[in-house]
Amino acid sequence: MYSQIHRNIQSWYHSHGRTDLPWRNTANPYHIYLSEIMLQQTQVKTVLERFYFPFLEQFPTFTHVSQAHLDEILKAWEGLGYYSRARHLHLAAQQCDGILPDNAAELEKLPGIGKSTAHAIACFAFGADLPILDANVKRILYRFFAIESCSTTALWERAYALFDSDHSYLYNQTLMDIGALICRHTHPLCDQCPLAEQCQGQKHPKRYPTKKAKKPKPIRRRTIQIYTDRSTYGLTQNQTRLLQGLWSFPQTDSDLPPHPHATHLGEVIHHYTHFTLHAEVWLYPYQTTATIRWFTMEEIDELALSGADHKVLKLLHQHLGFKSSPAVLR
Ligand code: ADE
Repeated sequence: MYSQIHRNIQSWYHSHGRTDLPWRNTANPYHIYLSEIMLQQTQVKTVLERFYFPFLEQFPTFTHVSQAHLDEILKAWEGLGYYSRARHLHLAAQQCDGILPDNAAELEKLPGIGKSTAHAIACFAFGADLPILDANVKRILYRFFAIESCSTTALWERAYALFDSDHSYLYNQTLMDIGALICRHTHPLCDQCPLAEQCQGQKHPKRYPTKKAKKPKPIRRRTIQIYTDRSTYGLTQNQTRLLQGLWSFPQTDSDLPPHPHATHLGEVIHHYTHFTLHAEVWLYPYQTTATIRWFTMEEIDELALSGADHKVLKLLHQHLGFKSSPAVLR
């Protein structure tokens, strides 16, 4: 039924596919797995230019990951965001003792690996004939079959229906490229699409999938306290799910009454997936608190900090460089 489409996909990949991506030119399952995890919530360009190679240099094998301390993994992940991916990677490496299972069913049992990622790794690393269903492929299927709304189970059925099980590797990689380069959210390039002959959504690509109205993000107002004895600074290790394991300057919900010796350093605005943080940053004289640990500036450079705390650190550096007026860092 889709043999012509399958042929179009093959020739499109040979002339337009991103065949030179490093994780498409390796048979190493750990490299492929790492790329799939990094690419779950991050664009190819960012992964390729800043994270994939340095991570592999620091942790050349999955065994290195299993033997590393979580702090080292989080530091290597710093800036990539969605840190649960790093914690899951570490946990997975320990669970399987540095040897990745070679089939989708076992892969899916590991933390951080859902069905689509398990299929992608099984297909790309071990030659399994299984389709994938990530956000890009979902959009392609919604449009191809002109679906307005659909359960995940029904969408998997569509994924299997269109799948070319004779050329699984090439088909899956091509769909990822088409999702990123052709069947884009806005301004899809239908006239260049190898699926166009049978795509039912191309007259109204914006109709599929129907867009959910985005809720405005709530603003979370906090106060951040940098405690210092002038040579060391107090930080705490996050226990919250979002940033677990990363180090932060202490935060409170309340507007603290300014301490007579506190100095206002400025404001930090930082966007998280579900809220925006607006935090006033104050520098406090030394204070002992049970959960605080003390670090010199050199030691802080070695810690994995959240994006917001990097902005706090920047305000502190500006202050120590004697820039006097409070700043807003976005
Ligand atoms: N996104 C997720 N997996 C990918 C892959 N193998 N190539 C390009 N983008 C991807």
